[in-house]
Amino acid sequence: MVSVEEFDALKGQRNHIYNHCFRVKKYSAKICEKLGLESNFKGDVEKAAFYHDIGKMEWSEGILNEFYKFGPKDFEKIIKHPVEGYDILKKYFGEASWLEYVLYHHEKLDGSGYPKGLMGDGIVFGARIIGVADSYDAMFRHYHRRTKKEALGELKKNSGILFDKKVVEAFIEIAK
Ligand SMILES: [Fe+2]
Ligand SMILES: [Fe+2]
Repeated sequence: MVSVEEFDALKGQRNHIYNHCFRVKKYSAKICEKLGLESNFKGDVEKAAFYHDIGKMEWSEGILNEFYKFGPKDFEKIIKHPVEGYDILKKYFGEASWLEYVLYHHEKLDGSGYPKGLMGDGIVFGARIIGVADSYDAMFRHYHRRTKKEALGELKKNSGILFDKKVVEAFIEIAK
């Protein structure tokens, strides 16, 4: 497992997980600003967004390659990354409440997410913010190479189903 210090040291090294996390932090901060959320909460969301995929750092380059064919074994591994990230961060930051935003950043409103399959308001708001920012970046930049318009279209289509409506609305405003 990678440590928080090792992750921080990736700054400026063109590591694509680090860069993805950095962008998700930026988007999440803008969503908080757009929604007029208070600065302590925004600070927590930013921290969680920055470290949200730290649990992915152990993945082989194979899995991270966009042309790699995912097998069931890989999926098992992949869905563990929020929990692994949470464990890494807990050792470093202790019992901070924002660690839950990392743990639940892949939960979806309809219960189809992981690790717990939480639904709707059962997903902490900070995690719902990061979920939108993360999905956008994953679609647009990180893996799937969709256009910006397509990525925003996906968010809109799944607003209120997978993603928080208010957050999607704010994000679409920002992305204009
Ligand atoms: Fe993730
Ligand atoms: Fe991510």
